[in-house]
Amino acid sequence: MTTTNVLASPLKINNLEIRNRIILGPMAVLRPTADGRPSDQTIAFLTRRAEGGVGLIIVGGSVATERAWRESPFSPNVRFDKDEFVPDLKRLTDAVHAYGTPIFAQLFPSFGRMGVPRNGNWISSASPKPVNMGAGGLPDNLYIPGGRVTPLPKEASIAEIKELEAAVVSAARRAQAAGFDGVEIGAHMCYFYSSFISPLSNQRTDEYGGSAENRARALRDAVAAVRAEVGPGYPLGIRMSVNDHMPGGQGPEGFAEVAAHIVEAGVDFISLSEGNYESMGENVTSISGNMLAHGEPQAFRKALGPDVRLFLSSTPDPKQAAEAIDAGHADASMLARQMLADPDYAVKVIEGREQQIVWCDHANSCLRRLILNVPIACHKNPGMGREDPGAKRSSFAQEAIVWAAGNRTLMTLADKLARMKQR
Ligand SMILES: Cc1cc2nc3c(=O)[nH]c(=O)nc-3n(C[C@H](O)[C@H](O)[C@H](O)COP(=O)(O)O)c2cc1C
Repeated sequence: MTTTNVLASPLKINNLEIRNRIILGPMAVLRPTADGRPSDQTIAFLTRRAEGGVGLIIVGGSVATERAWRESPFSPNVRFDKDEFVPDLKRLTDAVHAYGTPIFAQLFPSFGRMGVPRNGNWISSASPKPVNMGAGGLPDNLYIPGGRVTPLPKEASIAEIKELEAAVVSAARRAQAAGFDGVEIGAHMCYFYSSFISPLSNQRTDEYGGSAENRARALRDAVAAVRAEVGPGYPLGIRMSVNDHMPGGQGPEGFAEVAAHIVEAGVDFISLSEGNYESMGENVTSISGNMLAHGEPQAFRKALGPDVRLFLSSTPDPKQAAEAIDAGHADASMLARQMLADPDYAVKVIEGREQQIVWCDHANSCLRRLILNVPIACHKNPGMGREDPGAKRSSFAQEAIVWAAGNRTLMTLADKLARMKQR
């Protein structure tokens, strides 16, 4: 099988068939309106990638609950937490469907350990454990002077866990009503459900802590409840981390063991996410095929069998992705930053025009903008973030800050000053 043959082949996800194996991964780059509705820029960004031939779009930067809206570190987000948003979401799905491209919603129940406690509200997670951002390494060209330890969350009560579960069910119902072809529950990167999965962040002694089965319980129950709502034929998945990459943490086999308990509740696909905020260098890697090198898709496949579709991350090298799919390690290649640099990546791969691809250089100016809350742009693609001609541009001052935040000398100095102050 050639690279083109593999990546251009269709894939069934429950009752849905996608036309190829290249997926636009979820990214909070969508610039919705201040009150959380898809804007013209949101639609233009996504339809441009549909035009570029992706087999499936996953909408990131979205929130499933009022609580996630309140505590989001990356606001504004696209909202699914009230019925009033359904007509706006339908405008988005209609626009993407016009290109024959299916679209899934990523539903964030709560940001958990990454949440921001605003207006006297608390944040909660499996156990009261903050995140030491970048403790296990940061991505290239990203510096957090002085490091950053997030606020201490409270231990989630069982009533809270059940309340969130019910809110996610309502969000999935809205996504289905708005024409989304499937939904994914975000359970990765130190967010709420993620905190239950790893023994590093879950120190509970009740039925939600301890064994792999117990650590799977909160998310498994949410999946079962959503499955009951959306019906047996509707594509439903989870996004989960596959490795802690931290001393005392869980490796791929441990995560896959937890996943095996969750999929029983009706999971069609798992969108694999590398590491988390404590090992961000692994999550937003500069190396194509990082996941394959760590054996993570392989461990998930071994534990879950061929029926659960696995979306591989961070493998922009088409040959490497095709070989992994051909070998049965994964079913599709899901890409994020590469799709900012080149919206036509998919069509170029499928038509064998790889030499024309504009490659992401992993300089991570997009990520610095995300962290600094500056409208996302890509230095490899001047059209990114301006797909809608009316989209507002970032100011000169904002761009200067983004540049400074990527400058090693300046940031090393800022880091030294911040650490001196902390002493
Ligand atoms: C600007 C930006 C925004 C992101 N927003 C989200 C998001 O909303 N949801 C999510 O699950 N992942 C998000 N991610 C992570 C990506 O989906 C992906 O896991 C990560 O970038 C690694 O994949 P890549 O090597 O293809 O970029 C974001 C990444 C970037 C660069």
